[in-house]
Amino acid sequence: MEEDGSADGRVDRQEMAVPQGTFRLVRPDATGRAPLRAWDAADEMALRHLDEVGLVEDDGNDAPTVVVVGDGWGALAAPLASLHPTVVVDSYTAARAIVANLGANGVDPGSVTIADPLGPLPEAIDVGVVKVPKASAVLDHHLARLAPRLAPSATVIGAGMTRHVHSSTVDAFGRWIGPTATTRAVRKARLLLATAGPDRATGPDGATAPEGATGAGRGSRWPRETTLDGPGGPIVAIAHAGVFAAGRLDRGTAALLAALPEPGTHRRAVDLGCGTGVVGTVLARRDPAVEVTFVDDSALALASARATWERNLGDRPARFVHGDGLLDPEPIDCDLVCVNPPFHRDHAVGDATAWRMFVEARERLAPGGELLVVGNRHLAHHAKLARLFGRRRVEVVGSDPAYVVCQATVAT
Ligand SMILES: C[S@@+](CC[C@H](N)C(=O)[O-])C[C@H]1O[C@@H](n2cnc3c(N)ncnc32)[C@H](O)[C@@H]1O
Repeated sequence: MEEDGSADGRVDRQEMAVPQGTFRLVRPDATGRAPLRAWDAADEMALRHLDEVGLVEDDGNDAPTVVVVGDGWGALAAPLASLHPTVVVDSYTAARAIVANLGANGVDPGSVTIADPLGPLPEAIDVGVVKVPKASAVLDHHLARLAPRLAPSATVIGAGMTRHVHSSTVDAFGRWIGPTATTRAVRKARLLLATAGPDRATGPDGATAPEGATGAGRGSRWPRETTLDGPGGPIVAIAHAGVFAAGRLDRGTAALLAALPEPGTHRRAVDLGCGTGVVGTVLARRDPAVEVTFVDDSALALASARATWERNLGDRPARFVHGDGLLDPEPIDCDLVCVNPPFHRDHAVGDATAWRMFVEARERLAPGGELLVVGNRHLAHHAKLARLFGRRRVEVVGSDPAYVVCQATVAT
């Protein structure tokens, strides 16, 4: 997500004043340090534009159908809540933060429909507001899904920080939606204003995808299927747009796979932060008795893991949890946790999520249970695990020049 405050995005201010009102927005910060700002200049610019052109005025009779894509913490959902928007959010923790911020601002969370990026969209959308993501594949995914649902005279506003807005971004709006103009940059943010064209692309529900399209839909390359060289033979990994290591086997993941415990060691395993689900799928393929739960904060990652599982293991049962770590939405009790933790979240969070995952694993693992962690050598996960589990209970069980795999065991 973007920041526009100080160099690392840390600012004191939590109140966003926009034409629709003043909103106090909190952005949860896993580090526990000064709060990060929950909105950026692109959010403010989009809200000002919507107010100036009167695009979303609800006169009570003919309320426009509004879809918001990629809102991080409710900076768009809260000011637009009176229009009952559908808010498309990939991240479980972002959806949780949006609901919390709506409530904290006296907005009924029920006035907003939170949808995941593969779920149904309303028909005849009049206004789309799309936060421009870093990854062009993710933008394509969203535009491809919006295009066939737009009303004939719909407008789609792209709101992005200039570092994410390239000529290819303008091209994507032009290809999927229709004629697209850009505003000048203000405080390093810019809007793209696209009007639904009569010959716009019709994406997943329609017949055509535009030339060069890479989003979900016919003729597109997402979700992408790749055959990887896994231990015990090839494995087919399926990845939706934006999912970690799409189309390749990450070196850290490969190190983790090489260090998996012997079959029969544990019964209830969790592939925590599963991405495409390669780790849990390889584990289960080696061990017919193991029961795997896949967890990811990203709905697109979780859908990828489910597809990878089904492609390799058919209808063998597994559990898929869209959630945050091992405690939310419900505690997960287990004997083995395998994790290749995220470490670059939002520029500022560093490895705080990894630390929280380790704490939760220690809490949910049964006596004798095992946490298997891979991380870049410089992250020094070994020291963190030693603090949590005790020095004598942590072992290095795999490594290469860049990555270290550590095993932490809970006392029996
Ligand atoms: C480095 S990737 C590893 C993906 C996969 N295990 C692999 O090795 O290819 C980390 C994953 O953790 C997920 N993630 C980030 N924060 C999370 C959280 N709080 N709870 C669960 N998953 C999370 C990300 O969406 C991402 O898919």
